[in-house]
Amino acid sequence: MVDGIYIHIPFCINKCNYCDFLSFKSNEEERKKYVDYILKEIDLYPEYEYDTVYLGGGTPSLLNYEDVERIIKRLKIKPEAEVTIEVNPKTVDLKKLEDFKKAGINRLSIGIQTFDDKMLEVLGRQHSSQEGIKTYFDARRAGFENISLDLMFSLPNQTFEGVKFDLEKLLQLRPEHFSIYSLIWEEGTPFYKKLEEGIYKETDNELEAEMFEYIIKRAESLGYIHYEISNFCLSGKEARHNSKYWENREYLGIGLGASGYIENKRYKNQMQISKYYDNIDKGIHPIFEEEEVNEESKEQYKYMLGFRLLKKGVTPSEKYLERCVSLEKKGFLKREQDRFLLTHKGIMLANDVLDEFI
Ligand SMILES: C[S@@+](CC[C@H](N)C(=O)[O-])C[C@H]1O[C@@H](n2cnc3c(N)ncnc32)[C@H](O)[C@@H]1O
Ligand code: SF4
Repeated sequence: MVDGIYIHIPFCINKCNYCDFLSFKSNEEERKKYVDYILKEIDLYPEYEYDTVYLGGGTPSLLNYEDVERIIKRLKIKPEAEVTIEVNPKTVDLKKLEDFKKAGINRLSIGIQTFDDKMLEVLGRQHSSQEGIKTYFDARRAGFENISLDLMFSLPNQTFEGVKFDLEKLLQLRPEHFSIYSLIWEEGTPFYKKLEEGIYKETDNELEAEMFEYIIKRAESLGYIHYEISNFCLSGKEARHNSKYWENREYLGIGLGASGYIENKRYKNQMQISKYYDNIDKGIHPIFEEEEVNEESKEQYKYMLGFRLLKKGVTPSEKYLERCVSLEKKGFLKREQDRFLLTHKGIMLANDVLDEFI
């Protein structure tokens, strides 16, 4: 039964130089209209009861409190549900965070990216390091007890010292959870253009691996559990919503360009806002493409997603057992009872290992 919902809010105050998420600038009126359509889209589906709700983007914290509340109120949410909103520090203050809490949000994912002001400028972020830290403390004052921070590393010209500095600053705050992503050079972004022009250079693979190894060791030494390739948490604070993706469970995706997985179908919503609105006006699901998940592809997803969960891993079917054993012999997987898990070497080369199951 579907019990998770992702809602995409495609608005940002400004486009960051590295980002190719589906998001753009907007005004208050457009945001209100968009939320009206989100509510209509929700109504096109059966009334599921959710135990995880995730408002992602884009920058959902750009919505005013009333619009966030309108969305939350439209959903049937279980009492102990995890209800997350992604927050860009530039878009909130203490009052807004208090209002989000009142509206039923109980988990924040704050986009910090780096604590280096010069690097924040390079990234095209609209906030300073101090503003990022203030948002974190405002969130605590507003009563949030489940906070995740997003950090990036392997940024243009970033040194090993730079990574250590960012990680220490983050760990000092002691969030319940953090995600750390190495920069992906996305085609079509200003960063990618500079890469092509030779102004920026990709971080050397070996250095990037050393940075990542350091991050894992340091975070673990301070009690964080490295439970997913890019995610760390304190005990019991795994991201419950995102874990559903990795556990290959179904969830509803709502909003422009959102992906979802229900009734054995994986789908992606319209990415053009006029088409999205038009479909909903006609009373049809605003789906751009969908794929029936047959037993074979379900099995493939099980490995590609499941190995990401480093403490849980995957119990292979007979068909894939041999492949797992072969990867075990090469040192990429290890066995724990009937499960296979990524080894340290497997984590460092995770993309290659996961590709073995496509
Ligand atoms: C959709 S954003 C959510 C947060 C909010 N929009 C913000 O940036 O403050 C999700 C996260 O993806 C990460 N991200 C975005 N583009 C990336 C890229 N090209 N490479 C690596 N990580 C990226 C950033 O850490 C960002 O916080
Ligand atoms: S990183 Fe976040 S704030 Fe920046 S453009 Fe992407 S979604 Fe928007």
